[in-house]
Amino acid sequence: DKGGWDSFMDKEIHEDPSAVRNTLIGRFDEDGEIKLDEVHIDAEAFRQIDKIIVVACGTASYAGMVAKYAIEHWVRIPVEIELAHEFRYRDPILTPRTLVVAISQSGETMDTLMALRHAREQGSRVLAICNTQGSTIPRESDAVLYTHAGPEIAVASTKAFVAQIVAAYLLGLYLAQVKCTLYRDEIHQILDQLKQMPEKIQWVLDHEAESINDAASKMINAKSFLFLGRHVGYPVAMEGALKLKEIAYTFTEGFAAGELKHGPIALVEEGEPVVVIVPSSRGRNVLHNKVISAIEEVKARGAFTIAVAEVGDPDAEKYADIVFWRPECPTLLSPLVDVVPLQLLALDMAELKGYDVDKPRNLAKSVTVE
Ligand code: M6R
Repeated sequence: DKGGWDSFMDKEIHEDPSAVRNTLIGRFDEDGEIKLDEVHIDAEAFRQIDKIIVVACGTASYAGMVAKYAIEHWVRIPVEIELAHEFRYRDPILTPRTLVVAISQSGETMDTLMALRHAREQGSRVLAICNTQGSTIPRESDAVLYTHAGPEIAVASTKAFVAQIVAAYLLGLYLAQVKCTLYRDEIHQILDQLKQMPEKIQWVLDHEAESINDAASKMINAKSFLFLGRHVGYPVAMEGALKLKEIAYTFTEGFAAGELKHGPIALVEEGEPVVVIVPSSRGRNVLHNKVISAIEEVKARGAFTIAVAEVGDPDAEKYADIVFWRPECPTLLSPLVDVVPLQLLALDMAELKGYDVDKPRNLAKSVTVE
């Protein structure tokens, strides 16, 4: 049931706020102590973990990439992201102290399942972050942390992405708690900030939908799009690029903004849309200026620039042709809001082109073959 929306994808994007809210519910107490009772791995085993490897595909892998920035910062252990289909074919280094985190919306992705089987055969523990109760990936894992995004029907994954980031963040905070790499107050503060994210996402849905739709109609004839970001904005750029190729059949590429001068800038020609995820300018964030210069560079070569930026950012306003605004929030949490305009942009472009957004050509909701 589409509940009055034109498509499941439209409905599911509008469920981003509740996906975040529901994934947080019941996972910590009032004092800010993380409680992952459902995860049947004891605290001592968690304390021993010295490396995390995330195995996932597509959107789930980008959620893992976002989580890497947060978990490494909070827990000070290396987090590697591996596309599940590449993982077992390269003899990865796995020990009993490696925690393999398999992220999957459907819980049925064969590539991810084969990767987790390989990890367990090598003696590592596997924790699944999954949206589908009772599916194969959680059944075959040592533990599971469910994302409570609700069923996702549209082939293009949207609300599952934000829920996966939240679940991975809860895991990171739990590890920080048992390994004492963050103070209780710090964990409490991050949880408070996470709790505020649903309303920030809602703000984007309420205030930016019209300008995103206008932008989509202006760019309807574009043959290709580039997406740029840095730090956590980098996986968000790749996720935005994936959404647009999946449902609007537009050639897109997402890459790290710093890489521009190492090659991709050669692609920029007159009128080329370039979508840039701009980090906050607060706290004299050095990356803000670097990303703004990336906008200037592509603009000087004729690009049509679209920025996703924090409300009131004067540089985004000055340099980008169009800005999709998002409320102020901490850098590590910004992907939860920055991805929303990109989901809406892909939806609008696909609808304007008259495509079936829920069932794009050549794709299935879950890929059950290797
Ligand atoms: O069900 P999963 O999360 O394991 O699926 C992984 C990918 O196949 C999936 O995210 C795919 O990339 C989506 N169609 C993206 O929108």
